[in-house]
Amino acid sequence: MTAKLIDGKAVAKKVREQAAADVADMVAKGYAPPGLTTVLVGVDPASEVYVGMKQRMCKKLGIESSGYTLPADSSQEEVEALVQKLNDDPKVNGILVQLPLPGHLDDEAILKTISPEKDIDGFHPLNMGRLAQKGREPLFVPCTPDGCIYLLDDAGVELEGANAVVLGRSNIVGMPAALLLVKRNATVTICHSRTKNLPEICANADILIAAVGRVEMVKKDWVKPGAAVIDVGTHRIDDDTKEKGYYLTGDVAFDEVSEVAGYISPSPGGVGPMTIAMLMRNSVRAAQIAHGLIEV
Ligand code: GUN
Repeated sequence: MTAKLIDGKAVAKKVREQAAADVADMVAKGYAPPGLTTVLVGVDPASEVYVGMKQRMCKKLGIESSGYTLPADSSQEEVEALVQKLNDDPKVNGILVQLPLPGHLDDEAILKTISPEKDIDGFHPLNMGRLAQKGREPLFVPCTPDGCIYLLDDAGVELEGANAVVLGRSNIVGMPAALLLVKRNATVTICHSRTKNLPEICANADILIAAVGRVEMVKKDWVKPGAAVIDVGTHRIDDDTKEKGYYLTGDVAFDEVSEVAGYISPSPGGVGPMTIAMLMRNSVRAAQIAHGLIEV
């Protein structure tokens, strides 16, 4: 392996320690600690795991957390009414509606109901819209793409003027990652299922963010020597030879790509821990906004 390994676990630890220090500082000054409330609709096992991880991390850092689980057949009005109640509750600084929502619900309308000042996921159209506009700043940036940029900065990768390729255009990762790179003056290409000559386009990238959801799709010959590669994908592959009966891998063929890349953030162990760390940071920011400690 020649690539420098970007250790997401170590970087995430630094971000969490800073968040915990900011919470302690806030409390020492007599302010209430940040409060995060999660909303889960239905019982999707993966979502339950994620929500549980977020709540446990809050407790570790001194952030108050609470959660609501609504039945899978909840109506649009019921979910929006809960969000509205949380908007009106001064103890709640951040609201996280776990996605995906059951198919009968209009997720955009629900995300739009969240107060932009409590939108710690950065998914409210006002925050997304500001992310897309020159000279404007969102109150919050989506956690996973923000984590990708943080990893690149921490590794010392130059973004300004770089050719960046983002594989995937989801609302949660690909599109906001591309918008963040544009804000940092990278030249950005967004690739998706209809893109022609995908390997060729990727092979021109100084920075490659893979958020496409396809197992080990990015191969060695897709990567420019020396490029920085960030793997956002997470896939669980059944394998009886492993103790757990499965292993985790990403959108990047790690072993071969690490022979040519300059930097590589693996999956697992890269962006995953960063997502929760950035959520903790956003929760602290939401409380700082609520207490008037920062201007937005
Ligand atoms: N589902 C997958 N990723 C996310 C995320 O970052 N936030 C929320 N709310 N739901 C998700």
